[in-house]
Amino acid sequence: MKALSGKKILLGVTGGIAAYKAVEIASRLRKAGAEVHVIMTKAATSFVTELTFREITGQPVNTSMWDKVTNYNVEHIALANLADLVLIAPATANLLAKAAAGMADDMLTTTLLATKAPVIMAPAMNTNMYENPVTQDNIATLKRRGVMIIEPAAGHLACGAEGRGRLPEPADIVDYVCAYMGRTQNLAGRKIIVTAGGTIEPLDPVRYLGNHSTGKMGFAVAEALASRGAQVTLVAGPTFLKDPDAANIHTVRVESARQMREAVLSEYDSADGVIMSAAVADYRPQTVAPEKIKKSDDELVLHLVRNPDILWELGQKKQQQILVGFAAETCNVAEYACRKLAKKNLDFIVANDVSAKDAGFAVDNNRVQLYFRDGRSENYPLMSKRQLADIIVDKLETLLK
Ligand code: C5P
Repeated sequence: MKALSGKKILLGVTGGIAAYKAVEIASRLRKAGAEVHVIMTKAATSFVTELTFREITGQPVNTSMWDKVTNYNVEHIALANLADLVLIAPATANLLAKAAAGMADDMLTTTLLATKAPVIMAPAMNTNMYENPVTQDNIATLKRRGVMIIEPAAGHLACGAEGRGRLPEPADIVDYVCAYMGRTQNLAGRKIIVTAGGTIEPLDPVRYLGNHSTGKMGFAVAEALASRGAQVTLVAGPTFLKDPDAANIHTVRVESARQMREAVLSEYDSADGVIMSAAVADYRPQTVAPEKIKKSDDELVLHLVRNPDILWELGQKKQQQILVGFAAETCNVAEYACRKLAKKNLDFIVANDVSAKDAGFAVDNNRVQLYFRDGRSENYPLMSKRQLADIIVDKLETLLK
């Protein structure tokens, strides 16, 4: 079987001189087994003809929102839905800016806005345009939203300049696509438990103790695992997030730490790994008042008792399972994270400083360090939780091998 057999790839071609290289990209994608659908911007048609791509892909080529209607599908939605992956190569500064701003003024940008498929962009342009802070900001924005960027190469550019901005070789771009698509099924047959969100501990019928966790990180991890073929049990505390659509994610909703413990333990023996991203309450009220607690004295003293430490218990019972913990800290991140790694018998721990405003709780980004059993550690810059989820799953995959 070829690397891209059965995959539908939407190739967006924008109007830079490197557009001619997109012909070879289309050809190589096809040879790797993909069904390739091309959308060209108007400017791209000044560099290469539509006919070239039509001959190479064996598919109609889209160049405008206003082409003659050939069937009754709304064309940009149909293409957006059909794609397993969107690759834009070359991606001009103009395309990056429009995509970062969410504009939809032609067939390619409209399709991009409508698709839920993963997106890879290969920027190519003059060095000064590439290094311009506005382009760099646009790239950073797109990365934060989960777009994968293939960095341009350095060398001699068509405009005569030397520097960064060249489209990488078509073979390298297609290798990147194959590597991305290939890893999608690497976890087939593996069963992984993911916990997400915070737990809430009831005080009375209307009140509870809780925390700020929204579950975004855990849901992103579950999706990353599912996209590689794993069977995922997602044990989620109360969150506004809806159950993921993937057929191989089974979502179990719980409220308290004790319910989360039950749900996790009931699946643990047969699991290959657990990624415990939930912010589990360490304490719960000793008693839950049967009726709403009334205002009486000036002070109300709550008596709290310890909740079970789920991850510690999993560490004690560990057999084949790979265990991944999270450490949300407000100071001494490295020291506390390493202590937890050892105490809970983990394979690695994802540590972050939750006092930072731009990362951590309730936002779409995170900035973390990973600490491993063998003493290694890795530092990652601010990135989207979805991108980070892929990194965490990469590490899990390596440990499972
Ligand atoms: O000790 P600490 O709560 O900081 O450890 C965090 C890690 O332990 C997280 O992975 C969290 O999901 C897990 N944990 C747990 N049960 C608890 C508290 C935390 O499984 N009661």
